Amino acid sequence: MKVLSVTSECAPLVKTGGLADVAGALPAALAPHGVEMRTLLPGYPTVMAALGDAKEVMGERGLFGGDARVLRAKAAGLDLLVLDAPHLYDRPGNIYAGPDGDWVDNPERFAALSWVAARIGRTGAGRWTPDILHGHDWQAGFMPVWADAPSVMTIHNVAFQGLAPADRLEALRLPPDLMTRDGFEYWGKISSLKAGLTQADRITTVSPTYAGELMTPEFGMGMEGVLRGRADVMSGILNGIDLEAWTPPFKTAKGKARHTAALRAEMGLPATDGPLCVVVSRLTEQKGLDVLADALPRLVDEGGQLVMLGSGDAALERRWTEWAAHPNVAVRIGYDEALARRMMAGGDAILVPSRFEPCGLTQLYGLRFGTIPLVAMTGGLVDTVIPATPAGLLAEAATGVQFMPVTADALSRAFDQLLRLWRDPETWGAMRRRAMRHPVGWDVSARAYADLYAGLLEDRATA
Ligand code: ADP
Ligand code: GLC
Repeated sequence: MKVLSVTSECAPLVKTGGLADVAGALPAALAPHGVEMRTLLPGYPTVMAALGDAKEVMGERGLFGGDARVLRAKAAGLDLLVLDAPHLYDRPGNIYAGPDGDWVDNPERFAALSWVAARIGRTGAGRWTPDILHGHDWQAGFMPVWADAPSVMTIHNVAFQGLAPADRLEALRLPPDLMTRDGFEYWGKISSLKAGLTQADRITTVSPTYAGELMTPEFGMGMEGVLRGRADVMSGILNGIDLEAWTPPFKTAKGKARHTAALRAEMGLPATDGPLCVVVSRLTEQKGLDVLADALPRLVDEGGQLVMLGSGDAALERRWTEWAAHPNVAVRIGYDEALARRMMAGGDAILVPSRFEPCGLTQLYGLRFGTIPLVAMTGGLVDTVIPATPAGLLAEAATGVQFMPVTADALSRAFDQLLRLWRDPETWGAMRRRAMRHPVGWDVSARAYADLYAGLLEDRATA
């Protein structure tokens, strides 16, 4: 079975968040299940620079303001189709934004990706024709509008909806008859996410709990009605992580302790007998790091320490930069993959206090590295961490700490619990060993995607 994955980011070539990790991992995860996946990706400068031998397999004249072509190439172990459209993608810096914020032609930039995906579904590219088109997030949202091939849309984060003013309808080549509540019209605007959600044959999101949350006004961000209407084709499939790319650099507790000491030294933190906590995150409202800043005294006054790595929102960056003055807090504002890994290896606990979290990957890296996750009780965080409740401890199943609601009070109480567990080395050690054994790979979920694709093809065949 051939599947074209359509995505705006893909690790290790271009990444702003977890979508890239997932898009980058899916092809290898699906291969053992008989799925041949190629990935259609915009030709940003970093992607173009990474292509070795590339072959033109499709030309497209006048694609939203300029000529474009599709290149077939292999890079970083991925089988790629790259949309080379310099008028849309040859821009420096962040892939979504310029110096003055989001590019105003983002709707066109990603409509182009979706347009070409639909065309590949019809005619193939380089004698390869996908059976199924699988789009990720709003950037691929228009694809099912234009596609004949069966399509799957995955929601990684419903907060990003790809809105465009109504007067761009024609420029975006959209059919006016879908500018309705049942189509892609959203409060007078055009929503590419809604287009995907109303027009795709199947909808998935990245955890079962988020799939349920998405159907409520609290989490659906306006899409809850659409999604409730499509509940029969919607499912939650949990993300995994690439176990080879994320293998802990130690085998024993002693080995981990050396990484903890190294991280303290690198961050200029004193040796203490408290837990060394880490955060690796985008700094946005979603991630609850303002609440963490409010609750932090409870942790650091009791001997705990924190290393925070993140970037994003300017006010949050300022607030965290102030915390760096505390002797038991180290803050690095920026994006640094290598440091993120050293933090996972050296941390005793990883904190993920998100207000919502479709899946979350850093708690999975934490489990794998024996870095106990302390997480909010939402989305994929519920589905991946077994909390140290009395039942969880009694059954010797717990792998972390969960709290709710996302308030400074509740998080402070979660810190109390974390510290109690920490001060009982036997319990903590057992939790850490369980965490490291907990299956966080792609096995189960890759099968779920393969089954979903197969079911979709069957439905099409009998329709
Ligand atoms: P989201 O996609 O919402 O940002 P995820 O937890 O799914 O959340 O994925 C985030 C990914 O980005 C992880 O791989 C994480 O390690 C990485 N990441 C986030 N911020 C940074 C940073 N400042 N430096 C390095 N890696 C980061
Ligand atoms: C989104 C979500 C995150 C998820 C990632 C990959 O960015 O915020 O929770 O893990 O996509 O699916």
